[in-house]
Amino acid sequence: MPNTLDKSYLETSIYKPGIFAGKVAFVTGGAGSICRVQVEALVLLGANAAIIGRNVEKTVSAAREIEQLRPGAKVLGIGGVDVRKVHDLKAAVDRTVAELGRVDLVIAGAAGNFLSNINNLSTNAFRTVVEIDLVGSYATAKATYEQLVKNQGQIIFVSATLHYTGLPLQIHASAAKAGVDALARALAVELGPLGVRSNVIAPGPIAGTEGMDRLLPPGQLDAALKKIPLQRMGTTQEIADATVFLFSPAASYITGQVTVVDGGNWHMGSYREMYPEKLNELNSDIASGKL
Ligand code: COA
Repeated sequence: MPNTLDKSYLETSIYKPGIFAGKVAFVTGGAGSICRVQVEALVLLGANAAIIGRNVEKTVSAAREIEQLRPGAKVLGIGGVDVRKVHDLKAAVDRTVAELGRVDLVIAGAAGNFLSNINNLSTNAFRTVVEIDLVGSYATAKATYEQLVKNQGQIIFVSATLHYTGLPLQIHASAAKAGVDALARALAVELGPLGVRSNVIAPGPIAGTEGMDRLLPPGQLDAALKKIPLQRMGTTQEIADATVFLFSPAASYITGQVTVVDGGNWHMGSYREMYPEKLNELNSDIASGKL
């Protein structure tokens, strides 16, 4: 299955064309491998969108390509924005409202990660991942707050499953994503009376994503697939489909929940059989600069 969507999604999807007509999505990390496909599904189903990223060219060209998916669609690519800077995010929201009229559907998707053990992880490196993933998610909610309340909108945080168990070489991302889940839950309770829903999507192993390419140690694909209950990696479309469900009226009574899309993977505690030999090997690769 390709890593992007095309118009055939409208024929094969169980969702009704036009369900997001008149809605505007605001998506951080929207040019990245997972969030881009979330945006594509929303746009194909009628929404306009603004995608936010650090890289100007990548963000603007992704927006142009996504816009082609539906005649009349408008997709803004707002590059040069770092989610750690709430003022820059606020300016991006203001531009979205000026050009697209409103914001209804927010995805806090921007993230940063790498494999590192505590010995090689500086305080600044730990802080950097927490700032991008957790503070960036807070900043996205903060910057879109007025629009969310005004339009009774919804927010989805893209989290992970790494922090459900103790995963070595991921202490920084695990701490950050645990915080993201807590943020989403507390926001659901705080904003529920205002008509705003807040949920989490936790992708597991998804094929063709930067995260899998970078974080799955080389040579481990076959062994990893056998340990996934559904015996395969997920697709970006499966993350997009979960996103559409949560944003759609079919999920109108669902808030403060984590939707795990991982083929059952995290229940396996998949690092167990490789422990500690594989960990020793990876630590050597980190020490020698191979990873
Ligand atoms: N191992 C250990 N430390 C690392 C590291 C690695 N692989 N990569 C970055 N760091 C450290 C840096 O050394 C620095 O710490 P220091 O100041 O003590 O030296 C700190 O992290 C910040 O790095 P810097 O590159 O200045 O930060 P940044 O804000 O420009 O980018 C990331 C941070 C996480 C986004 C960057 O590592 C990156 O570009 N990653 C790849 C893209 C990505 O993460 N995509 C998502 C995949 S899920």
